[in-house]
Amino acid sequence: MYDQLYQGDSIEIMKRIQENKVNMIYLDPPFFTNRSFESSSYDGNKINFEDIWKNGINEYLEFMRNVIQESIRILSKTGLLFLHCDWHANHYLKIELDKIFGYHNFVNEIIWKRHNSQNNSKQGSKIFGRLHDTIFIYSKDSTYTWNHLYQQYSKEYVDKTYNKIDKKTKERYALGDLSGPGGSSKGNPYFEFLGFKKYWRYNKQKMTKLYEENKIVQTKPNTVPKLKRYLKDMKGIGLSDIWTDIQNEQTKNKKNIMYPTQKPVTLLERIISCSTKKGDLVLDPFCGSGTTLIACNNLERRWIGIDSNAISIKTIQNRLELENVKKNQYEFKKIMVKHIQI
Ligand SMILES: C[S@@+](CC[C@H](N)C(=O)[O-])C[C@H]1O[C@@H](n2cnc3c(N)ncnc32)[C@H](O)[C@@H]1O
Repeated sequence: MYDQLYQGDSIEIMKRIQENKVNMIYLDPPFFTNRSFESSSYDGNKINFEDIWKNGINEYLEFMRNVIQESIRILSKTGLLFLHCDWHANHYLKIELDKIFGYHNFVNEIIWKRHNSQNNSKQGSKIFGRLHDTIFIYSKDSTYTWNHLYQQYSKEYVDKTYNKIDKKTKERYALGDLSGPGGSSKGNPYFEFLGFKKYWRYNKQKMTKLYEENKIVQTKPNTVPKLKRYLKDMKGIGLSDIWTDIQNEQTKNKKNIMYPTQKPVTLLERIISCSTKKGDLVLDPFCGSGTTLIACNNLERRWIGIDSNAISIKTIQNRLELENVKKNQYEFKKIMVKHIQI
């Protein structure tokens, strides 16, 4: 199956996608900012998209309710939905998601610190600086695909925790406790090891093996043996729901901006990596400059992208070309005809 790019209304096109077909959906819709976004595209054309709702929040929520309803229908049983939004409507959207996906299928609320600028809380301002976007994650079922992600430890943490150096290998390590937590109630083995009779974390055979491999040490004679935990064997720190390490393109490098509200490729790579495997199908119904499609291409996922804006489609096609994705490698359709199934 080819990757697919559609120009048209997201709800109309989503309606034509089969049930349970896509493995992950990333929604980056208008945020209910009540403004129009304008900027110059790569070829000097004006990019313009409106986020104006004459009938207020109810009109916006009706639109989003339809998008979320179509999303749950076409998402596979093991799929996840990511909804990117901000303070303008995130509290209303969470309620819609709870109603449609179910409160119990809420997975995470990601706080993405999108910039460091304090411009909106300058002197005289009567608000705290608004620096973050919200990304809600919902599952369709508890069996959803999840690849846990890790971040590198900070230098301070490494210096403080992995503060010992192996004389032979010159590798950094920390000393860990070998006691069996919970003693006999947790089924830990009890035996004598290097002169100490107690509940241990591992059985005698494993302890002896670790000792022979120089992974168990006594720092001084007659002290309780400790485990050497090597830094090289650690995955890092499990990623939390506050993401401060991915800078917005707008702050990082103005040269890379092709579209207003363009998100960083690294943000989408993170979202795609934790929720899908190679070959899975990802849908972005508001794909703007095509950031999700580029990230899918980098990570060998298949994609469907939709945007109603002609300049967005041009921008995506140009961007894909720059990434060596030729027009014959994906299908492009402008959708006006009804009754086709994707
Ligand atoms: C926030 S931007 C997406 C930016 C994108 N994530 C990126 O990194 O470039 C929202 C996009 O939704 C599109 N859009 C708004 N309403 C739409 C609709 N009903 N159907 C399809 N696209 C729509 C706009 O044209 C705009 O490109």
